[in-house]
Amino acid sequence: MKTNRTFTMIKPDAVANGHIGAIIDKITKSGFKVIALKYTSLSPEKAGQFYEVHKERPFYKDLVNFMSSGPIVAAILEKDNAIEDFRKLIGATDPSKAEEGTIRNLFAKSIEANAVHGSDSDENADIEGNFFFSAFERF
Ligand code: TYD
Repeated sequence: MKTNRTFTMIKPDAVANGHIGAIIDKITKSGFKVIALKYTSLSPEKAGQFYEVHKERPFYKDLVNFMSSGPIVAAILEKDNAIEDFRKLIGATDPSKAEEGTIRNLFAKSIEANAVHGSDSDENADIEGNFFFSAFERF
């Protein structure tokens, strides 16, 4: 397991609103190196699998519908203290509570359509990176 890595998605809202470039710029200017990058989309089945940990939560169905509603960008990022630093960079899950200057504060509109995903642990970063990328797609 690589403890200096995290996994992110630019979610359908941020892609549809034309924020891919600005978000990647902010990520790289914050010291993260892009290890793998992919413009893709999630089927409802794949989105359901990715968020399976939330399957008993009331928002699960809407979240799966939203995450499969359009293209996304998936990436593996590297930096010392990647998990914690990236969570700080994206801000709180609810953008109305996200600190000023964070990605969700700048680019997200609602708790569901909150612009970006960031892994919450080294173990999940590894699982999520493997969900999208094969060994020869990363550096
Ligand atoms: P969670 O893992 O709690 O947040 P985070 O993405 O900050 O790690 O939730 C996963 C996603 O589920 C979240 O990014 C957006 C969605 N979600 C809702 O749609 N409604 C909610 O009330 C919550 C808590 C999350």
